[in-house]
Amino acid sequence: MAQLLTGLVFLSDISRYSIAADTLSPIQPLRDGQTLVSAKETFALGFFSPGRSKNRYVGIWYNKRQGDQTTTVVWVANRSSSLSGTNGSLELNGNGTLTINSMIFLPMPMVALTNPVAQLLDDGNFVIREANSSEFAWQSFDYLTDTLLSGMKLGWDLRTGLNRNLTSWRSKDDPSPGSYVLSIDLEGIPHIIVWSGSTKKYRSRPWADVKVDDPQDMRHRYGLRFGFVNNKDEVYYMYNTTGTKLVGGVLMDQSGMTKHFLWVESTGMWNNFLNYPMNECQEYSRCGPFGVCNIDVWPICRCLQGFKPKSPQEWPLMDASSGCDRLTALDCKNRSDGFMTVTLAALPETSNAIVYTNISQDECRARCLKNCSCTAYAAVRNINGGGLGCVIWVTELIDLRISPHPTENVFVRLAAADLGN
Ligand SMILES: *[C@@H]1O[C@H](CO)[C@@H](O)[C@H](O)[C@H]1NC(C)=O
Ligand SMILES: *[C@@H]1O[C@H](CO)[C@@H](O)[C@H](O)[C@H]1NC(C)=O
Ligand SMILES: *[C@@H]1O[C@H](CO)[C@@H](O)[C@H](O)[C@H]1NC(C)=O
Ligand SMILES: *[C@@H]1O[C@H](CO)[C@@H](O)[C@H](O)[C@H]1NC(C)=O
Ligand SMILES: *[C@@H]1O[C@H](CO)[C@@H](O)[C@H](O)[C@H]1NC(C)=O
Ligand SMILES: *[C@@H]1O[C@H](CO)[C@@H](O)[C@H](O)[C@H]1NC(C)=O
Ligand SMILES: *[C@@H]1O[C@H](CO)[C@@H](O)[C@H](O)[C@H]1NC(C)=O
Ligand SMILES: *[C@@H]1O[C@H](CO)[C@@H](O)[C@H](O)[C@H]1NC(C)=O
Ligand SMILES: *[C@@H]1O[C@H](CO)[C@@H](O)[C@H](O)[C@H]1NC(C)=O
Repeated sequence: MAQLLTGLVFLSDISRYSIAADTLSPIQPLRDGQTLVSAKETFALGFFSPGRSKNRYVGIWYNKRQGDQTTTVVWVANRSSSLSGTNGSLELNGNGTLTINSMIFLPMPMVALTNPVAQLLDDGNFVIREANSSEFAWQSFDYLTDTLLSGMKLGWDLRTGLNRNLTSWRSKDDPSPGSYVLSIDLEGIPHIIVWSGSTKKYRSRPWADVKVDDPQDMRHRYGLRFGFVNNKDEVYYMYNTTGTKLVGGVLMDQSGMTKHFLWVESTGMWNNFLNYPMNECQEYSRCGPFGVCNIDVWPICRCLQGFKPKSPQEWPLMDASSGCDRLTALDCKNRSDGFMTVTLAALPETSNAIVYTNISQDECRARCLKNCSCTAYAAVRNINGGGLGCVIWVTELIDLRISPHPTENVFVRLAAADLGN
C-alpha cells in the first residue's frame, strides 16, 4: 500500500479507454490503456508501470488517487515477469485461463470452464467463475503480493498446502519479490514471522489466549476487526471491514516494516496508523537466548535472574545478541531444581516448544521437571482452539520481552542456588 507510483501512463486515459465494466469475457480482451473498474469504483485493474520503470505489469490499484496524484497498487499479477511494450493484451480463454499476449501468466484453474467470466470485485478480488455460478474457480486473493486487503486470508489451507504470505517489492520501481516475507509459522503455536531471507526479523505473539476483537486493541478503535482461525483445515489471519466504509490494508514494505493503513476520505490520503516492529525490543531475539528486553530501561537488554552475559566483552558494547548463560547448572537428577515466575509481554518463541492440550498447570510442571532438557513451561488458555494447554520449552528461551502490560506468566527452571527467595 502507498507505493508511490509516479509516472503512470494511464493517468487521464482511464475514462476514455475504460471498457466501463468490471467483467472480462472471452470475446473481449483488455488492452493496455484500458481498465476494469469494480462495481462501486473502489478498485481498478489494468496495465501499469511502477515508479520510474518502463516495464508493464498487470495489477490492481485503489481507484482513488492520493492528494499528490499517486496511485496505490495492491496486487500484481505474475510479478516476476514484465512486458516491455504497451502492446499487452489480457485475455480470458474459452476454458477460463488468463493469458497475456497468448502466454499463460498465472497459476490457473485446474478444471476447464465452459462459459467463463473474470470479474473485479469491489473488495479488490479478481475472480474467475462460470458465468452462471457464484463459485470462484480462481481468485487473486489466493496469490498475495505485498498487501493484505480486507477479506484476504494470510496463512495456510492445510487441505491443499496453499501458503499465502506477503512478500515485499524489490524496490519502488520493481514489484518482483524483495527481501522480506511475512508468513504464518505453524511450528509450536501458530504465529507470524517476518523473514529477511532465512533470518527471522520479527515474531508476533503466538495465537493462544488471543482475544479476538479485544476492545483494548488500538486497531479496534479504528473500526478494524481481526480474526485468527486455527482449525484442522485452515490456519489464517484476516481482517474485515465489511459493512463499514473503511478501506485499509497491511503492507509488507521494502524496509522490512509491516505497515497498517486506512484511507482517510477527508484528506484523500492513507493514514499509516501502526507499524511493526514498533520498537527495538520487538526485533527478533534482540537480547539473545535467556536475555530479556525492556524498552523502558537503559540498556534495554538484561539477563534473566540466574543468568549472566555469555560474552561479557560484548555486552558493554550494547551487543547482547550472544545472550546469557546459567550461573549454576541445572541438577535434574537430584530433583532440586525449582521454578522462577517471569511475567512477560508474550510467550517466548514457541517454534521448538512442545504443546500439550487439555492438561492442568500441575501436570504441566510435572512434565517439565521429568524431562531434563526442559527449560521452562507455561500454562496457556485456549491453545490451538482447545481448552487449557501447556507449553514446554526444551531449548534456550528466545525473544523475551517485558512490557508495561505484561500478560504471560512463564515458569523458568533454575538450579536451587539461583532461585533466591
Ligand atoms: C510488444 O512490443 C514489444 C516491444 O515493443 C515487442 O518486443 C513485442 O514483440 C511486442 N509483442 C507483440 C505480441 O506484439
Ligand atoms: C509468469 O509468466 C511467464 C511468462 O508468460 C510464465 O512463463 C510463468 O509461468 C508465469 N508464472 C506463473 C507463476 O504462472
Ligand atoms: C486452457 O487452454 C490453454 C491453451 O489455450 C491450455 O494451455 C490450458 O491447459 C487449458 N486449461 C485447461 C484447464 O484445460
Ligand atoms: C451453468 O451452465 C452450464 C452450461 O453452460 C450448465 O452445465 C450448468 O448446469 C449451469 N449451472 C447452473 C448452476 O445453472
Ligand atoms: C511464501 O509463499 C510461497 C508461495 O506459496 C512459498 O513458496 C514460500 O516458501 C513462502 N515463504 C514462506 C517464508 O513461508
Ligand atoms: C466480515 O464482517 C461482516 C459483517 O459483520 C460479516 O457478515 C462477514 O461474514 C465477515 N466476513 C469474514 C470473511 O469474516
Ligand atoms: C545431589 O545432592 C547431593 C546432596 O544434596 C549433593 O551432594 C550432590 O552433589 C548432588 N549431585 C549433583 C549432581 O549435583
Ligand atoms: C480433558 O481432560 C479431562 C480430564 O483428564 C477429561 O475428562 C476431558 O474429557 C478432556 N477433554 C477433552 C476435550 O479432551
Ligand atoms: C525431553 O523432551 C525432548 C523433546 O521432546 C525429547 O527429545 C526427550 O526425549 C525428552 N526426554 C525425556 C527424558 O523424556
